[in-house]
Amino acid sequence: MKKKKIKGIILAGGTATRLFPLTATTSKQLLPVYDRQMIFYPLNVLIKAGIKDILIIVAPEHSGQFLNLLGSIFEKHGIRIEFKVQKIPKGLADAFITGEDFIDEGNVAMILGDNIFEKDFSAEIKNFKSGGMIFAKKVPDPERYGVVKFDENNKVVQIVEKPKNWISDYAIPGIYVYDSRCVEAAKQAKHSERGEIEITEIHNYYLDKDELSVSVFDGEWMDAGTFDSLLEAGRIVKEKEIYKNFDHIIDEAIKEFNNEIKEIAKKRLR
Ligand code: DAU
Repeated sequence: MKKKKIKGIILAGGTATRLFPLTATTSKQLLPVYDRQMIFYPLNVLIKAGIKDILIIVAPEHSGQFLNLLGSIFEKHGIRIEFKVQKIPKGLADAFITGEDFIDEGNVAMILGDNIFEKDFSAEIKNFKSGGMIFAKKVPDPERYGVVKFDENNKVVQIVEKPKNWISDYAIPGIYVYDSRCVEAAKQAKHSERGEIEITEIHNYYLDKDELSVSVFDGEWMDAGTFDSLLEAGRIVKEKEIYKNFDHIIDEAIKEFNNEIKEIAKKRLR
């Protein structure tokens, strides 16, 4: 089968009430994690994997801030960034409905705007052909996450969002790769108890067709959604020097942005 072009989506909306008052004035995904805004970490995963078309889904009140930071810095590096506003946080899988026109007939790698990884997912993303691909990480508190149970051959057996009864110690982190049927899967999905379209509905759509793969991965995974995890994320990024492993495009774009801002500041002082 001929490989389809792969696009990227970063889901960076939501209200992030657990981080109030920080998120009363900006988006969680624009808060600093060590020396750069959080959004650069998921962006790095996609750009490192060679993805050139990226859709960032944002909350309406923060759209201007995202546009100011990311609206033009990647243009000359051949990377197109599009934005879409998600008026109400309807669930992770809503990204595929919001992003339907963007996905078109292609494959898509989606990453949550507050998930930070030490691992480079380039090989897995580049080799993806069709179906669904998720990852798994052993955690001490699986009830906080989407959880996957798999057998000794890495065949997925069961997926449950925040299981009340233990099924496995393996959480599913916020990076997913699907073919374009994820749009149809999201449209068919039922709303959960919390009134959202859960991402686990999409995993289960592919699992039912026996087209879902899972890989356990090494390295740090951080979900920077609370004060403590945000602080911890910055500490780990510094300690493990994760900021040194960024794609050169991102480092250059940040440098150019900084220089531009400095020039503007100088003019204002005159
Ligand atoms: O972090 C990994 C976990 O993320 C997975 O293991 C779970 O399966 C998945 O459901 C998700 O769980 P959370 O409860 O952590 O999701 P949360 O509602 O916190 O949303 C994750 C991010 O996505 C958050 O930064 C805000 C953004 N978001 C969320 C929703 C529901 C949106 O942009 N729009 C939305 O509609």
